[in-house]
Amino acid sequence: MNEQKRQYEFIEKCKDMLSKRNKQLSACVVNFGCQMNARDSEKLVGILSEMGFEMTDSEDADLVIYNTCTVRENANNKIYGRLGGLYNMKKKDPEKMIALCGCMMQEEHVVEKLKTSYSFINLVFGTHNIYKFAELMYQVLNEPDTFHVQIWDDRREIVENLPSRRKYTFKTGINIMFGCDNFCTYCIVPYVRGRERSREASDIIREIEAQAADGVIEVMLLGQNVNSYGKGLKQEINFAGLLARVDEIDGLKRIRFMTSHPKDMSEELIDVMAKSKKICRHMHLPMQSGSDRILKEMNRHYTKERYLYLVDALRNKMPDIAITTDIIVGFPGETEEDFLETMDVVEKSRFDSAFTFIYSRRTGTPAAKLPQNASDEEIKDRFDRLLAAVQNSAAESAERLTGKVMEVLVEQRNEKDDNLVTGRLSNNSVVHFPGDESLIGRIVPVELSECKGFYYLGRQTRDGI
Ligand code: SAH
Ligand code: SF4
Ligand code: F3S
Repeated sequence: MNEQKRQYEFIEKCKDMLSKRNKQLSACVVNFGCQMNARDSEKLVGILSEMGFEMTDSEDADLVIYNTCTVRENANNKIYGRLGGLYNMKKKDPEKMIALCGCMMQEEHVVEKLKTSYSFINLVFGTHNIYKFAELMYQVLNEPDTFHVQIWDDRREIVENLPSRRKYTFKTGINIMFGCDNFCTYCIVPYVRGRERSREASDIIREIEAQAADGVIEVMLLGQNVNSYGKGLKQEINFAGLLARVDEIDGLKRIRFMTSHPKDMSEELIDVMAKSKKICRHMHLPMQSGSDRILKEMNRHYTKERYLYLVDALRNKMPDIAITTDIIVGFPGETEEDFLETMDVVEKSRFDSAFTFIYSRRTGTPAAKLPQNASDEEIKDRFDRLLAAVQNSAAESAERLTGKVMEVLVEQRNEKDDNLVTGRLSNNSVVHFPGDESLIGRIVPVELSECKGFYYLGRQTRDGI
């Protein structure tokens, strides 16, 4: 029997068991990671909904799943902190089920610690066997007092066509590849997500067509390094080729992708973007450092000069594009001189926004063995200077659009003010403006009346397009 069919059978079995209980069970999936994890959570929610669970945002639920991240140490600490809260809830409600999954579970020392100190957990599984979730849930329902663990080191197989339930009706992420083979020396992702494997283009296109037919107008193509998409596939295709095919899908209005690695970024990709009306004017291009020496130590395979060239090439072909980045401060051995090279790239690139991180030592990565020469104070000081520079360039580039009328895809009600809705421009900037729920999922023209640094306040100018 094929794997997909097996899992559907387990969904049915769980559904059957749950329907015999005299209570509607609820489930809550909390996501701690990146867009990949968010997409995995949609798959978990899809399976749980099929089983008959009622989904909720409250951790008071009968089943709580933490989908974890381990890219930096503080991501792990957050989980241990929150587990304490779940334990207190379970003491009051012993039938409460608690499951943990995601990248952090792929680390042996984490699972050991959970087994010994957090034995109230019902289920722990990893990133490689997420497609077996229905089967694992069946075990939990049958043996609710056991600590079930199943972690696999890696897998090749990609199981297609399992249920998933989108968080938003009008947009979703689409995995185009899994894993990462780049082994940047600071990064744990290749160890917890396994080897890079691309999905067949025909499977991706079929999935997006089905989503578009079901009302999705924005897709985000997901991979740790989308620019190397296509390796090892039966049918030869690269990322630019895939994008061009996605661009032709009827019904889609916006196409995004994440993450691009500068070492594999091609002119062909820039051309496909420039020609398209649907591919958003946004490029997230993590630079990590501006120092050639540090880039080499990080195993990034590009130079400061190449990075600046790519920024120029993007802006030349698409003057309205927003370029955003990730930067790490305090990589082992980083000197003030190295740091100033990073500041120089920030100065020259005029990023529209940047995620800045203090280097976090991850056990098992090559950089974890390198000595750290800078003090915590020095690193903090560099971080503060970098943040100020990044905020300055972000505010400056945002200011350029003030007063203009732009298309906004409305995503949700404003979290703080019920009279406002919140949406995004093609370049990914956030806009708040007066409106109601009926606008959610629509693209409307909005005048960007006021720039607040990293978001806009606006007003709708006429009915949706
Ligand atoms: N695949 C993406 C990034 C995934 S992780 C890429 O290559 O760009 C997201 C970001 O977390 C990275 O871009 C990096 O800036 C940051 N990061 C990864 N490992 C880190 C570490 N050990 N310490 C601090 N930041 C880290
Ligand atoms: Fe990590 Fe580098 Fe892979 Fe990105 S490309 S996930 S930073 S190893
Ligand atoms: Fe975190 Fe895993 Fe994403 S470690 S950043 S959730 S791939």
